[in-house]
Amino acid sequence: MPDPLTTPAAELPVRRLGPEDLDRCLALSQDRAWAREERKWLFLLENAEVHAIDAPSGELAGTVTLTRYGTAAAGIGMMLVATRYGGRGLGRQLMTHVLDTAGDAAVFLWATELGRPLYEKLGFETLGVTEARVGRLRPGNDPVLSRPADLDGDLDALLALDAEVFGADRAALLARLFAFAEEVRVVEDETGPTGYAVSWRSMNTLFIGPVVAGGEADARALVTDLARNADGLVRLEVERTRPGLLAWLGERGVTQAFSTSFMVHGGRPLPGDRTRMFAPMMLAMG
Ligand SMILES: CC(C)(COP(=O)(O)OP(=O)(O)OC[C@H]1O[C@@H](n2cnc3c(N)ncnc32)[C@H](O)[C@@H]1OP(=O)(O)O)[C@@H](O)C(=O)NCCC(=O)NCCS
Repeated sequence: MPDPLTTPAAELPVRRLGPEDLDRCLALSQDRAWAREERKWLFLLENAEVHAIDAPSGELAGTVTLTRYGTAAAGIGMMLVATRYGGRGLGRQLMTHVLDTAGDAAVFLWATELGRPLYEKLGFETLGVTEARVGRLRPGNDPVLSRPADLDGDLDALLALDAEVFGADRAALLARLFAFAEEVRVVEDETGPTGYAVSWRSMNTLFIGPVVAGGEADARALVTDLARNADGLVRLEVERTRPGLLAWLGERGVTQAFSTSFMVHGGRPLPGDRTRMFAPMMLAMG
């Protein structure tokens, strides 16, 4: 196996990982002081393409995930290069590999400050800033305005709604997410579901996303109702272009943990109706 310390990065093979590589992914995250997100990594290994460069030690030198939504869009995440192999072109090699794999799709990601310079060099443009919000959501006296989804009866309507808003095919992935989820809730009017949101657990935190809604009041109702079962911290990612929702989260005790730059390759517009997408599923996927 070529050694990344002595081999030019462009000659290092990139291979697809599977669920059996979970421990190696966790070790790489730990090397970069990222949280040990076992459930999330497993979900990615089972439902996204995880690409990696091996190190001769049997560990991973670097990873990146690619989630393809048909041919229209693709999300990139979990870009990690082990500290000892940093600054040698491995990040560029991994990113170039997945960009080639993504073909003509509109490719997007959320970048940390460490990742952003590399992505800019490879043609990504920053379209916004997203805040990761974490806290114990104080319930207030809000009435329950959403209901649990019936994953048989509602499934077709939820997938159709999501297809309109997300604008690219993620029906199979959503079906997997619903199975992985803690809860899926729906808001509706007389025509059927107009919004839905999902909560799922990773570590000691209840992640909320995606949140799809016709307006901010419905988005708040979905978040409030999902958070009733949090029993601890909740986390969701909200764009700075939603100051009302961010202010409300702050008042309820869900404050900023960190922020990322939302970037799209070539600055291309994303498909769908993003005005109704109040939070993504997860930063690593979209
Ligand atoms: C971000 C990260 C993946 C970069 O990997 P890397 O292998 O060190 O990057 P490369 O050596 O391939 O760098 C590629 C190019 O980007 C530039 N670059 C990379 N990181 C940079 C930084 N922090 N500041 C300025 N330039 C940077 C390099 O100079 C290089 O330029 P060149 O190809 O023109 O010579 C790595 O630092 C890392 O894992 N960081 C911690 C986790 C993280 O934040 N990941 C990003 C998540 S969005």
